[in-house]
Amino acid sequence: MSFTVAIDGPAAAGKGTISKAVSAHFGFAHLDTGLLYRAVGAKVAEGQDPFRAAEGLVPEDLQRSDLRTLGAGQAASRVAALPTVRVALVDFQRRFAESPEGAVLDGRDIGTVICPRAQVKLFVTASPEVRAHRRWLEVGGDEAQVLAEVIERDERDMNRTDAPLRPAPDAHLLDTSDLSIEDAIAQAIALIEAKRG
Ligand code: CDP
Ligand code: CDP
Repeated sequence: MSFTVAIDGPAAAGKGTISKAVSAHFGFAHLDTGLLYRAVGAKVAEGQDPFRAAEGLVPEDLQRSDLRTLGAGQAASRVAALPTVRVALVDFQRRFAESPEGAVLDGRDIGTVICPRAQVKLFVTASPEVRAHRRWLEVGGDEAQVLAEVIERDERDMNRTDAPLRPAPDAHLLDTSDLSIEDAIAQAIALIEAKRG
């Protein structure tokens, strides 16, 4: 049986950082599912139909250099509210979760919708101010504007009807507001070790 780790949480909570470290530590495959929505958002911004963009996604679409901007995050969150887009991306994510070496997927609905039977579920959070500061260190610009965008995107993600951002009932909450990256990673690894036996 495959071993799946689901890591969800709001923007810039540290999901990707923890996921990469966990996949390197355990030899798991890693899928950043936010990248799928960012790639669909970019195609829709270029005029494509959202469902076709999601259904026709190819690996090269995930290599685009313009997917990490704040604008790409907003475009992702708008298309992510469309049920047709979400449905088109389910099978790929579930197949990935079955990777024989084990898999870690990070996103918003991995523990609730994509992999409800994941062996380990983490919900990574931090205060909006801490998260916005971290994102601002990456993208620069006006920090107040970054905070406003982070809050706007979280609200859209939490309030959509389909697969809203929320912890699964059996998720471990990991608040990284006052944790160093090293400590956050160590806590995640310890939780997974405990479940693996
Ligand atoms: O994937 P997600 O958007 O949740 O966040 P990330 O890309 O892993 O982390 C966002 C930024 O916060 C990165 O620059 C991390 O290095 C930083 N970070 C941090 O300063 N402290 C942590 N405990 C986790 C991440
Ligand atoms: O790295 P960060 O947390 O800022 O964003 P991301 O994980 O790349 O996700 C970008 C957007 O895609 C989110 O704001 C969500 O609207 C959407 N998303 C989603 O709906 N479901 C997922 N499993 C992953 C991302």
